[in-house]
Amino acid sequence: MLVTNKEVLSVASAGGYAVGAFNINNMEILQAIIETAKEEKSPIIVSASPSAVKYAGLDYLVAMVKAAAKTNPDIPMTLHLDHGKDIETAQMCINGGFTSVMIDGSHLDFEGNIAMTKHVVEIARSKGVSVEAELGKLVSQEATAQGAEDPYTDPDNAKEFVDRTGVDSLAVAIGTSHGAYKFKGDVKLDFDRLKDIRRKVNVPLVLHGASGVPSWIVEKATKYGAELSGAKGIPDKHIKCAISLGIAKINIDTDLRLAFTGSVREVLVTSPKVYDPRKILGPAKENMKRVVQEKMRLFGSSGKAV
Ligand code: G3H
Ligand code: 13P
Ligand code: ZN
Repeated sequence: MLVTNKEVLSVASAGGYAVGAFNINNMEILQAIIETAKEEKSPIIVSASPSAVKYAGLDYLVAMVKAAAKTNPDIPMTLHLDHGKDIETAQMCINGGFTSVMIDGSHLDFEGNIAMTKHVVEIARSKGVSVEAELGKLVSQEATAQGAEDPYTDPDNAKEFVDRTGVDSLAVAIGTSHGAYKFKGDVKLDFDRLKDIRRKVNVPLVLHGASGVPSWIVEKATKYGAELSGAKGIPDKHIKCAISLGIAKINIDTDLRLAFTGSVREVLVTSPKVYDPRKILGPAKENMKRVVQEKMRLFGSSGKAV
C-alpha cells in the first residue's frame, strides 16, 4: 500500500521506533528492500535521490514502486524524493507520483531555506504529499574547523523553522555524514543537542548519513578486491540512542551500496565463467536483503506493518 511519510512517521514516533529509508537506483535494490519489508512485516520508505531519478528515469521508478505496492497491499510503503535541492525537482516528483519529498535547503541561509521549504509545502499540500526539510550541515565533528560557524542544527532555529514552514518532518545535523568514511577517530554525535531539538520541535525527526558500515560487509568486499581502508559508520548503539531520543526516520544508502558491490565482486572473482547478469545481480540482492533485515530489527520497525 502506497502511503505518505507523514502517515508512517507519525505512527513510528508514537510507537518509539524508526522506519528505514533505503535509497534505490534499480530494480534489484527495490526488490531487496520490498521483499525484506514483506518478510519482516515492516513499513518502509523507498528513497530516490535526484541522481537516482536521472539514472533510472522518473516514470520507471514510479512504475516499479507502484507495482511493488500493488503486490504488497499489507506493507505501508512510501516513495520519497531524497535531497531535492530545488522547487522544480520537488514539483516534478510530486506531479510524477511520489508520496513524499525532501526539500533540502541546507545549502541556503536560514531565510532562504524557509522560503524554499514553505513554497514546496504549499505545492505538496494540494496533492496530499508530505514534506521533509533539512536544517544544519551533515558533517562530522572532526571535520568542522575550529572556531568556524556551528554547522549543526540549532534547536531554537529548528522550532522557528518548523513553525514557519509547516513541514512534516525535519532532518537534523548532529554529526552524521554521508558515505563510508564518517569518522577518522572516535565516533561523536551530539545527543544533547538532539534532546533539545526533540523538546522544542513536534514533528518526526530524521537522521541522514546513518549507515553502520558493518565489518561483515567491509570484510567480504575487501576479500574480493575492494579498497575500503578507514571506512567507518555509525555503531548500532548510537542508532538505538538516536531512536530513543526521537529519531523516527533513518536513511541508509552506503550499506546497500557496499553489500551490492561486495557481492558482485565475489561472483566475478570466484566464478569467472559467469556472464549471466542474473547470476551476478541475484546474489547481490540477497546480500542487500541481509542488510535491510538487520536495519529493520535494529530500528524496531519489524512486525509494525499491521
Ligand atoms: O544523500 C545521498 C544519497 O546517498 C544519494 O546519493 O546522490 O549519489 O544518489 P546519490
Ligand atoms: P549513508 O551514506 O550513511 O547511507 O546515508 C544515506 C543518506 O543519508 C541518504 O539521504
Ligand atoms: Zn541524506
